[in-house]
Amino acid sequence: MLDGTRNKEIIDRQFNSFTPENIFKPNSLHPEENTFNWPEADQMLDYALSQNKRFHGHTLLWHNQLPLWMENFQGNSAEWEAMLKTHIQTICHHFKGKVKAWDVLNEAFNEDGSLRNSIWKQHIGASYIEKAFVFAHEADPEAILFYNDFNLALNDKKRDAVVSLIRNLKQRNIPIHGIGLQMHISIYYPSNVVIASAMKEFYQLGLKVHLSELDISLNPRGLDIELTDKLLQKQAQKMYSVSLLYQQIPKAYQYGITFWGHSDVHSWIPSFFGREDYPLLFDANYKAKPMYCKFLESL
Ligand code: XIL
Repeated sequence: MLDGTRNKEIIDRQFNSFTPENIFKPNSLHPEENTFNWPEADQMLDYALSQNKRFHGHTLLWHNQLPLWMENFQGNSAEWEAMLKTHIQTICHHFKGKVKAWDVLNEAFNEDGSLRNSIWKQHIGASYIEKAFVFAHEADPEAILFYNDFNLALNDKKRDAVVSLIRNLKQRNIPIHGIGLQMHISIYYPSNVVIASAMKEFYQLGLKVHLSELDISLNPRGLDIELTDKLLQKQAQKMYSVSLLYQQIPKAYQYGITFWGHSDVHSWIPSFFGREDYPLLFDANYKAKPMYCKFLESL
């Protein structure tokens, strides 16, 4: 979102990497079977590159924000696979050399560790996962390819399932290079101990660790809250701890930290979950919050 001078100034000056929140998702980039929608995406990408930012592509595959034609696609498994290949490779080719890293697959697991019954699993089978990574790698062999998911620190059943998938992919030389640990966390949980152990488990598999989609909720249960300095200080402390833990990862495995927005006024949480919250670095007036100051202090 580049509206407003202060907003633009924050984006230009405070961050060195961009991730599109919605416009690189399948429904936006690939709205009809034979139509790709590049202009808005190209504009954002070119702006980011003109400002010397890294650009992280999010996301080639997901079960949400799919175009209707894709959900209703008719065909046998070979036709589904061909459709998946065209989807991934057309996008990767278009942005080749500019988008240097992709979330290839987002949120493929359920909370109990089973594979989500997405349209991809239904029509292609579980092997859609390795196929997606292979297709992306064929289209852009230089790109760093990520699997991205939420609750991987909090939920060890889900984490175990993702770890065993990745181990299996790596054993068979399927190109996967990074893990996105979505950090939609709160001031109450997950604990720093489990965040640290999740990061360790994944870098020990040889993956780059991306703390993706970071926001720190003050109100995960959606109660009536009063925004107090005490809450803001707790949030700042959580940010500080997470950042310090991240810096303990060997440098070769640090991909970066991505915030899911910068100002509370643009956060997805209040509208998506229908609750009052203040999860980001800057307040609704673009003023730096204690969380921002503690984050800087940690670096
Ligand atoms: C969210 C966006 O922030 C919202 O604007 C949209 O309405 C729904 O998706 N996990 C993800 C992100 O991987 O793509 C989601 O983004 C948040 C949860």
